[in-house]
Amino acid sequence: MTSAPTAQEALRVPDDIGRAVVLPESYGDENNITYPAFKWLRENMPVGQAVVDEYDPLWLITKFDDIMTVEKNPVLFNATMNNPILNTQAGDQFLRSLTGGSMRYLDALPFMDPPEHTQIKSATSNWFAPKNVAKYSELIRDIAKEDVEKLLSYDGECDWATDFALHYPLRVVLGLFGIPQDDLPLMLKLTQEFFGANDPDEKRDDIDLSPEAAARQFQAAFADFFAYFNQFTEDRRKNPRDDLMSVLANAKVDGEFLSEGVVNGSYLQVATAGHDTTSSTISGAAIAMARHPDQWERVRADHSLIPKMVDEAVRWTSPVKHFMRSASEDTELGGALIRKGERLMLNYPSGNRDEQYFTDANEFDMDRSPNKHLGFGFGAHMCIGQHIAKLEMNILFEELLPKIKKIELAGEPKPVKTNFVSSFKTVPVKFTKA
Ligand code: HEM
Repeated sequence: MTSAPTAQEALRVPDDIGRAVVLPESYGDENNITYPAFKWLRENMPVGQAVVDEYDPLWLITKFDDIMTVEKNPVLFNATMNNPILNTQAGDQFLRSLTGGSMRYLDALPFMDPPEHTQIKSATSNWFAPKNVAKYSELIRDIAKEDVEKLLSYDGECDWATDFALHYPLRVVLGLFGIPQDDLPLMLKLTQEFFGANDPDEKRDDIDLSPEAAARQFQAAFADFFAYFNQFTEDRRKNPRDDLMSVLANAKVDGEFLSEGVVNGSYLQVATAGHDTTSSTISGAAIAMARHPDQWERVRADHSLIPKMVDEAVRWTSPVKHFMRSASEDTELGGALIRKGERLMLNYPSGNRDEQYFTDANEFDMDRSPNKHLGFGFGAHMCIGQHIAKLEMNILFEELLPKIKKIELAGEPKPVKTNFVSSFKTVPVKFTKA
């Protein structure tokens, strides 16, 4: 006779559901695989443990309230004991071998805990505040105008993801950094490699596809980034300007410049975090608007609706699929006993479709109010670049809407297969000029 499962055993997520949430390839078909799995979890096991081959056991956190509980407790649920980004065991082992055992392979905010995290974040957070970033509106608008003109030159048909959305956020980041726009192809290649690392289609040709391939690719991208960025730090310390590169290069904690690792880590973090996240959202907005021509019409007629449309696009697209935390001590969450050191996966797209807070959560509805979503996370680690992201998307649509009367999908959009930061491989569209 087999004995009944213990309460903890009963919290083991069914294997197919675990794979649907954990494996990068599931996200290539998220409407049919990941979103239904999230729904099942929210309804049946909001805090459940997934055991998936090649990965550490993971607590999948899928309800809005439980994600918030974790986000509000950055000491109890830390970002440093394990990799804050999900990776295979082999991949993590490889990263540890490079750093001498630590999971801090990048000196950037997501890899820090308080009090260090608080110190480093405070050193630059004023620059990222809404009032300050608004000063860069004209610089951003000039880039938006050029990109909209380029879109119009496609004469009614293009790949919205690769011909349009992909380049704009990176061009904005270069503009804010004060880096020449000619460096776009180099930055594009590096940031794509960095975030696209677990999509089999994004691998570097010169690196094999062993289980450690993603980790190796990360390291290769790091080394290239660092060589590129060091020249700017030296220059901006000698000749500070009114740009983000000067702010990061000259930021100080207790009267000392940030270390070389933290300065480079911050550049890299901003360049990568500010790129695919925003281009994904711009693509997500186009997909939603093509499916809801009535909402496109309304926002065209009344530009004061643009910020609500953009915010709903962040919720609906949820480009950041997860961040990881680890329990600093034994604790209880949503009825589960989480042991010290165990890992939790914060599933933002699931929190953003939690029916307890979002009626008809799968639907894009720019009239949603309130729309307090988790697209930018919450708490200590909440996205420092959210005001830049919103500003640049608002400006883009202000420039775009008067020029485009109608937008339609001309084929099925295909997302990149990644469990971290999504983007779209293709979003074929047809559009009618105004
Ligand atoms: C639509 C666009 C964006 C989305 C959806 C997004 C989303 C996120 C999310 C979910 C986090 C983690 C929050 C958490 O752990 O609670 C994050 C962190 C971060 N984001 Fe963004 N982001 C976007 C754009 C940007 C931009 C434009 C920048 C910079 C210019 C940026 C820089 C960062 C940085 C530096 C962090 C780490 C913060 C920390 O750990 O304290 N992001 N973002």
